[in-house]
Amino acid sequence: MKRMGSKQVLVPTVSCLLLLFCLGCKCLALELEATQTATLKVDASSQLARKIPDTLFGMFFEEINHAGAGGIWAELVSNRGFEAGGLHTPSNIDPWSIIGDDASIFVVTDRTSCFSRNIIALRMEVLCDECPAGGVGIYNPGFWGMNIEDGKSYNLVMYVKSAEAADLTVSLASSDGLQKLASVTVPVAGTSNWTKVEQKLIAKGTNRTSRLQITSNKKGVVWFDQVSLMPSDTFKGHGFRTELISMLLDLKPRFLRFPGGCFVEGEWLRNAFRWRESIGPWEERPGHFGDVWHYWTDDGLGYYEFLQLSEDLGAAPIWVFNNGISHNDEVSTAAIAPFVKDVLDSLEFARGSANSTWGSVRAAMGHPEPFPVKYVAIGNEDCGKKYYLGNYLKFYNAIRESYPDIQMISNCDGSSKPLDHPADLYDFHVYTDSKTLFNMKGTFDKTSRTGPKAFVSEYAVWRTDAGRGSLLGSLAEAAFLTGLEKNSDIVQMASYAPLFVNDNDQTWNPDAIVFNSWQQYGTPSYWMQKFFRESSGAMIHPITISSSYSGSLAASAITWQDSGNSFLKVKIVNFGPDTVSLTISVSGLQVSINALGSNATVLTSSNVKDENSFSNPNKVKWCQQTNLCP
Ligand SMILES: *[C@@H]1O[C@H](CO)[C@@H](O)[C@H](O)[C@H]1NC(C)=O
Ligand SMILES: *[C@@H]1O[C@H](CO)[C@@H](O)[C@H](O)[C@H]1NC(C)=O
Ligand SMILES: *[C@@H]1O[C@H](CO)[C@@H](O)[C@H](O)[C@H]1NC(C)=O
Ligand SMILES: *[C@@H]1O[C@H](CO)[C@@H](O)[C@H](O)[C@H]1NC(C)=O
Repeated sequence: MKRMGSKQVLVPTVSCLLLLFCLGCKCLALELEATQTATLKVDASSQLARKIPDTLFGMFFEEINHAGAGGIWAELVSNRGFEAGGLHTPSNIDPWSIIGDDASIFVVTDRTSCFSRNIIALRMEVLCDECPAGGVGIYNPGFWGMNIEDGKSYNLVMYVKSAEAADLTVSLASSDGLQKLASVTVPVAGTSNWTKVEQKLIAKGTNRTSRLQITSNKKGVVWFDQVSLMPSDTFKGHGFRTELISMLLDLKPRFLRFPGGCFVEGEWLRNAFRWRESIGPWEERPGHFGDVWHYWTDDGLGYYEFLQLSEDLGAAPIWVFNNGISHNDEVSTAAIAPFVKDVLDSLEFARGSANSTWGSVRAAMGHPEPFPVKYVAIGNEDCGKKYYLGNYLKFYNAIRESYPDIQMISNCDGSSKPLDHPADLYDFHVYTDSKTLFNMKGTFDKTSRTGPKAFVSEYAVWRTDAGRGSLLGSLAEAAFLTGLEKNSDIVQMASYAPLFVNDNDQTWNPDAIVFNSWQQYGTPSYWMQKFFRESSGAMIHPITISSSYSGSLAASAITWQDSGNSFLKVKIVNFGPDTVSLTISVSGLQVSINALGSNATVLTSSNVKDENSFSNPNKVKWCQQTNLCP
């Protein structure tokens, strides 16, 4: 049976050192005869222990698969400013649509917004004298339906303009409009000015695929812009979807790399992420089309929000910025200076005092204290591009001068040969089949112990064996991570990729967390990471595996302190087809082991290709058993 297990042992203050336990997994539906044996020897003496970096395991968040827009960012309206269809009018207002017909309503975009950076607004002309009951108007289905829940309140903000006074009806309704979950009348004064409308809607029913409707019964013209609907119960009131954030918190991430990935580069530079366009009042953000992953973002989840998210997770922010290079075009090093200045401004935004030019913008957004940005990545996967090295050095030197403490991450792999440029860390990305990744647990054994450290900023099993997140994939990843723990003298950070997928837009497969408008579950790769959540900052100890089956096994052992107690955790991965009877012995502990405080945690299933799903989110199970030790 393939599985991953760990033993966590409470160590109080007496002496004694030997421990024996076998991992007969009680979580399994059927008990299997062990066909192999293995002995694990852990040397837990302090002489041979080494501290793992505090930052070893963290997260990589990319705006891919609607991870942010329609994902952790709780905004329910999609294309809230009508900008997604582009600047040429009339434009496509998708996913907005119309309630009524050609005879009763005419809706068109124009360039009359009060917001200069996102000039498109929606002009709605009601044509009917005797409008149908319920009126005519527009609706927005959100991101594959809005999750509207009974008793919850939702904050509507929108900008409207109408030459004559009118009463609008704003409602939350089922996708066919028949079931009304909430409804308010919004009087609009007749003026030539735009007015901001703020209204609370309280749902008196639940529908997971609802829509927002704005209707009228009165002949006339009303303009709309920047229509937002936010649930009132976002995480810390910061706009994040609470259930998704709690899944992240459960992994205790030590860093957050953001916002990409290829999202940072763009297919073309004109579509790359621009931090400056993603800060300040949300109404004034232009939004942009992410041309690598093919969707529009209103950029409510912007640079500031990513910094806030890092703080909320207790994770060190790692800002990946565009270095003047996209997938298809590049800024030459001779012309890179304004891009360098732009990045220095972004660092002032994060770290500058509330009195500095950009720090004051951050303070005005509600965060006078600086955000402690200590790491930046100069581009994503751009090593070897024509202007990478030249541009890299411009960014590197400018940042080094202004922020000597910031650690800079190069895109060039320094694991097999030294880099030809200065760097604190280098990116290492691996997506491969499970067997290859399992065998890559020794990859960093051979790497030089001097020079920049590795940041394994993207790793995952994909394609062959991966399914939509299989147990087998997670086992190979776990084995790979035990190798990173052992090599954490030169591997400083590691993160799985991608973190999230909205089930309605699976551009990249597999992913750690799958969600839709109202549900979420972890794939085995998510649960696998939970085995490593105590590793950052812990002590790693030598471990040896004696078995004729050792080619299919991987293991590591750590100890750490928590509220006065010491803990020992031994992780074992069985990647082979046979069950294994395990004997674990620990030497070198200063104290005895408290068997009563010990337990075993197992991640397994009846078939290695098993996956979790919305209907069976715990098929590949993480289960804990207490007092297993004899
Ligand atoms: C939600 O609305 C759809 C479309 O009207 C309907 O089929 C579904 O039954 C509704 N769900 C609930 C929980 O009322
Ligand atoms: C419209 O706004 C301008 C500028 O704020 C103000 O001077 C003017 O009085 C407003 N007009 C109406 C009709 O409210
Ligand atoms: C910021 O400006 C205020 C008012 O001008 C001043 O009192 C304060 O000392 C300044 N703070 C810093 C950190 O410069
Ligand atoms: C497993 O042991 C650890 C350490 O004593 C404890 O924190 C954890 O709650 C235990 N788990 C269960 C399910 O008992």
